[in-house]
This record gives sequence, C-alpha cells and structure tokens, in this order.
Amino acid sequence: MVQIVPSILAADFARLAEQIESVERAGAAMLHLDVMDGHFVPNFTIGPPVVASIRKVTRARLDVHLMIEDPDYYAPIFIQAGADQVSVHQEVCRNLDRTLRMIRTEGALAGVVINPATPVAMLEDVLDVADYVLIMSVNPGFGGQHFLPHSLEKVRQLDRQRRERHLQLPIEVDGGITLENLPDVVRAGCDWIVTGSSIFHTPDPAETVRKMNQTAQDAMAVRV
Ligand code: DX5
Ligand code: ZN
Repeated sequence: MVQIVPSILAADFARLAEQIESVERAGAAMLHLDVMDGHFVPNFTIGPPVVASIRKVTRARLDVHLMIEDPDYYAPIFIQAGADQVSVHQEVCRNLDRTLRMIRTEGALAGVVINPATPVAMLEDVLDVADYVLIMSVNPGFGGQHFLPHSLEKVRQLDRQRRERHLQLPIEVDGGITLENLPDVVRAGCDWIVTGSSIFHTPDPAETVRKMNQTAQDAMAVRV
C-alpha cells in the first residue's frame, strides 16, 4: 500500500512527541528517522538514545535511514534502540550482501539506499536480500532541497525489475517531495514516500498528512 512517511528531520525537536502524535493520529503508520554522522554527510542528527525515546511514544514503525560511515557497527545498536527497519547506503558498504543479511538476523527489515549519482544497476545482485529499496531524490544530508527529476526514471527502472523478477520489495523515495510532485512519484512506482518539510513546515502537519495520503491514494488508483 502506498503511504506517506513523515521524516522528523523537519519537525520541531523541542516538541517532538507532540508532533509525532499528531501525524500518527492523522494516519502515518511509519516514521522516517534520519541518522547522520558528519562524515558520510556534512550534518549531524540523532543517535540511539533519541530513537529509544521515540520508541516509547509511538506505535508507528520506525524506519531508520543510516547516513553514516560504519553501518555494520551501528545497525544492531539502532535495532536494539527500537528500529523496525534499517536502511544502509550502497556507497559505504564494502560487503553489502553481508550487511543486509546481518540486519535481518538482528531482527529488522533490511533496506538499501542509493544516492542520486548511483545507478539502479548497482543493486541488481542484492535485490533478493533486501526487504526494500530507498532511492534518494536529493543528495543526502539536509531537508528542504529540490527534488531531482531523474529519480523518477530510476524508480520506473526498479519497478520494472521487481515485476520481471516477481519481487515484492517496496520502493521508498526520500527528498524534495511536495503535494505537487507526489502524483508523479506514486505513478512511477513508489510505495513509501518520505516527506519532511512539506509536512512539518506547514501550519497544520496532521491535515497535510491527510491531504498527502489522499493525493497518493488517488494517484494509485490510476497506477497500473
Ligand atoms: C535528507 C534526508 C531526508 C529529509 C527529507 O538527507 O534523508 O529524509 O528529511 O526532507 P525533505 O522532505 O524536506 O526533502
Ligand atoms: Zn532520509
């Protein structure tokens, strides 16, 4: 099922529990948590203690996106803190197949992420060991950037591949999603649509989640 996944990066961290509760009540069943280490990307965000605190205030699935240099060391720690699914960047994993299997063994869904400069072809040999694929539609590191249009073609390519190979894996997209480009993103084949500033930088984030979910379902109705 296609769903809007709020990214808390754009939320007000001083009112995080309250903001999470409002988007959850508006129908968000999954929350996207961005982890940055100041090395793989030029920014810092949250660590395991914050994930553990969030775990206590929500029943939504916690979708942890690791933008860090050493996901092999940290993935189990984030799973222990309460992550239901963890995605790692193809660009930093020397043994990607092993990392994805490890995440599954630790008890979470394993996702693989590719940056705008990384072709979908790089994923061909891991599609059987990944539970989902995240296609970055901005360069990682910051919220509020513009959607890179060539991401849509990458989603279409991956959608074709998963059909040919009879794979169920959801396609997630992250970065620059707005109410305006949302229908195109859904029609290209995305299932999980991460949205930060377009939700939390509006006057009523809960109402925006409802509106975006409705727009996504309408676009899904015409997806073949
Ligand atoms: C960017 C992060 C995104 C970010 C998206 O590196 O991975 O999850 O929160 O934010 P928006 O929706 O504002 O582009
Ligand atoms: Zn993200």
